Amino acid sequence: MTGFDMARILITSALPYINGIKHLGNLVGSQLPADAYARFMRQTGNEVMFICATDEHGTPAELAAAKTGEAVADYCARLHGVQAELAKGFRLSFDHYGRSSSARNHRMTQHLAGRLAENGLISEVSEKQVYSHADGRFLPDRYIEGTCPNCGYTRARGDQCEECTKQLDPTDLIEPRSAISGSTDLEVRETKHLYLRQSALKDRIDQWIDSQQGWPILTTSIAKKWLHDGDGLQDRGITRDLDWGVPVRKGDQPWPGMEGKVFYVWFDAPIEYISATAEWADANGLDDAAWERWWRTDKGADDVRYVQFMGKDNVPFHTLSFPATIMGSGEPWKLVDYIKSFNYLNYDGGQFSTSQGRGVFMDQALDILPSDYWRWWLLSHVPENSDSEFTWENFQASVNKDLADVLGNFASRVTKFCRSKFGEVVPEGGAYGPAEQAVMAEIATRLAAYETHMAEIEIRKATAELRAIWVAGNEYLQSAAPWAVFKEDPERAAAIVRFALNLIRLYAILSRPFIPDAADAMALAMNVADESWPHDLDDALTALPGGHGFSVPENLFDKITDEARDEMAARFAGKA
Ligand code: MF3
Ligand code: ZN
Repeated sequence: MTGFDMARILITSALPYINGIKHLGNLVGSQLPADAYARFMRQTGNEVMFICATDEHGTPAELAAAKTGEAVADYCARLHGVQAELAKGFRLSFDHYGRSSSARNHRMTQHLAGRLAENGLISEVSEKQVYSHADGRFLPDRYIEGTCPNCGYTRARGDQCEECTKQLDPTDLIEPRSAISGSTDLEVRETKHLYLRQSALKDRIDQWIDSQQGWPILTTSIAKKWLHDGDGLQDRGITRDLDWGVPVRKGDQPWPGMEGKVFYVWFDAPIEYISATAEWADANGLDDAAWERWWRTDKGADDVRYVQFMGKDNVPFHTLSFPATIMGSGEPWKLVDYIKSFNYLNYDGGQFSTSQGRGVFMDQALDILPSDYWRWWLLSHVPENSDSEFTWENFQASVNKDLADVLGNFASRVTKFCRSKFGEVVPEGGAYGPAEQAVMAEIATRLAAYETHMAEIEIRKATAELRAIWVAGNEYLQSAAPWAVFKEDPERAAAIVRFALNLIRLYAILSRPFIPDAADAMALAMNVADESWPHDLDDALTALPGGHGFSVPENLFDKITDEARDEMAARFAGKA
């Protein structure tokens, strides 16, 4: 590896809904892999802007607030704080964690809607909306359930069928019922709404998707399906009869006939990617040019690479609706260059369930074990090519084997042995020989593969290479056996230990995208000043010279006992 071309990379993770704490399946489906990618790209010398935010509008927020008895704005402010704290707990390295209810997003959403209207891409449609007598309110899309007209799934929601991913309108559902009360006493009433004329942009979107290189099949197949199946890309309602949301306005002007309505949450949420970057500039006392160079191709964003991370259910909104919004504005907004989408993580033979409390939620996870344990398991089992499943056995095996037996044990054995024979300094004397050359050759090959997989966002493959790099060090130590060599040949033992201590430094750097706390602990123990990404292993593995002081790290990882595993499995099985 001779070096990297420095690039500017904009990374966004799908915005988590505000209504409650997310489970590990949510975390692994966008924010966590996005974080590993962002960390890797920063470490390898790129300029990174990593953005996330809470997705705060819509009925779920209104209903959740009604349940706790808080005003919806207060509820969102509180839950934003909770989610931001948990993001910190998982070491998610966002440059900004914004809020879709921000003043910036209100203005940006109204601005883009105004531009779309000027360009003839908004139509006003008088439509019928479902009113529930039992609930005493209009029922927004998500709160109407019924049978999907496309695939027959009986629990499809009025905005989308989670089974086949088709975007729906509530009146498309067969045998609709209120998801709040279950009542079927529903009445359809007349109301006026705005539609985004996606059909008029179909050819542009189609060409744009065709021009993309190497997108995951999961991404393009979903996009292509909704572009071409049936009648092709449908126009999309972008307003709702709700109180909580971005008020419908045409730029800074009122929108006659739309008083009291708000934009649909899925219209304003992706716009928050842009607005959150502006919020970042505001929070750092920077001017508009600072965020526009990430988003406006006329202001420097033409050389930005923009990568989005999301679960597969989010793909239609990011390949079709959001591009339609920003293309249709006629303004030079940066379009996404690569969409990384994920399948689902299941929980122990079923699904994670928020309503049944089934599975592990982010707050509970951090109560039980440090974030690195979860990060490592989740990232090494991220559902990239198919759904994957969390089981406690598998989690225990990964933690005990990869983290405790391989990495943790290596770091502890080397440092403790050195301390007992040479003291807490890197020993001098002896020279690296064929055994060290062989390990370096293996690591060089694996490191190149690791880098390629990260560049291609094949996270699981990257973790496999990293694990193999740890194993290579462990096996080297086992066979070089400095404790046996020491009596006969202390010089040779010194060279082995010096090499192994340098491996710990290397592991600190290479492991950081995945297990940042352990990386900190290793770097601190090795007293590492320079954490630059290794371009040359000969240099990297002589970076700590003889005489360099270090300390023995605290035990990096504790093993999970069978009893602890069984206890956790019982605790999170959910209410039946
Ligand atoms: N809140 C949505 C979800 O969890 C994702 C929104 S992504 C955005 O599925 F870009 F639209 F914000
Ligand atoms: Zn369906």
